[in-house]
Amino acid sequence: MAEIGVDITKAKLLLDNAELVAIPTETVYGLAANAFNVEAVLKIYEVKNRPKFNPLILHSNSLERFAEWGIVITDQLKKLADTFSPGPLTYVLPSNAAIPDIITAGQLSVAIRIPNHPLTLALLAELDYPLAAPSANPSEYVSPTSAEHVQAQLSEKIPYILDGGVCTVGVESTIIDLTQNKIRLLRLGGISKEEIELCIGEEIEDLLISDNVIAPGMMKRHYATSHPMVFEEQISTVNISPYTYAIRFQTYADYLPKENQFLLSENGNLNEAAANLFSTMRKLDAMQIDLIIAERFPAIGIGRAINDRLERATSKNLHS
Ligand code: TXA
Ligand code: MG
Repeated sequence: MAEIGVDITKAKLLLDNAELVAIPTETVYGLAANAFNVEAVLKIYEVKNRPKFNPLILHSNSLERFAEWGIVITDQLKKLADTFSPGPLTYVLPSNAAIPDIITAGQLSVAIRIPNHPLTLALLAELDYPLAAPSANPSEYVSPTSAEHVQAQLSEKIPYILDGGVCTVGVESTIIDLTQNKIRLLRLGGISKEEIELCIGEEIEDLLISDNVIAPGMMKRHYATSHPMVFEEQISTVNISPYTYAIRFQTYADYLPKENQFLLSENGNLNEAAANLFSTMRKLDAMQIDLIIAERFPAIGIGRAINDRLERATSKNLHS
């Protein structure tokens, strides 16, 4: 069983010794290792059963630290980080010789993020290396938003879970690519496209609906529950039974009894809905049910990230 606690010194000791530690962030829990220790990073791929072609995000507590590791801080990056970091935004930047291939999957770019969680920022400040940290779930499953979620799946495989409570954002970071002339959006997440455009004063390119997989996180089948899931617009193609449940935004639908419906935000707050999304998917997955029906959320702000995660979860049915 992994130990759960708030001991930063213990976490540091384990990480210094090439062990894995689950860490809280504002988005989802990460499965962290010393990014400069190849043996440690290999454990991440092993524990997650993650394909090696899927690169990892480097985490540290300031841009200055990243500069020490050879990351070039452009004016554009500085401006974005002044507004959004620490926070749920990941920057894809030119890599350099200091960054191991096991982090970048051999690509010429590297992803970096400053997570906004007091416990993890305090830990990062103590380390003389960045942490590689993908979400702390088995590859292709829903990301964890509490220490208990991590414990439920990885407990036998890691020694320690740093418990920072429930994640406040609840969906993964937004990823933008800063290696081209124009900023490109690679993954929707905690920061909306609109917010980024407002910050830099220009439009960014949306690479999300693309067959050309730049971020492997753009692969369709991802974040899936074990139970099948469909959108409400597909309702005529499914059988509704007493074991059918719905994920809804703020109001109950009339096609199911209320007891079979989970509202993500009774106040109609999209941020609250995002924070509740993954724990609700996990709750439903642990129940004896036969189908999950999801409402489509308003396609504004973080609502787009919610729809993106639901789309990935529903698209599993196309393959299985
Ligand atoms: O919110 C988050 O970002 C969480 C927390 C723990 O920080 N981390 C996370 O990591 O979601 P992960 O590994 O589950 O997703 C990272 C995504 C992957 O889809 C990966 O393909 C993409 O980032 N990525 C990493 N390096 C990249 C690079 N150099 N170019 C393009 N995409 C990259
Ligand atoms: Mg992930």
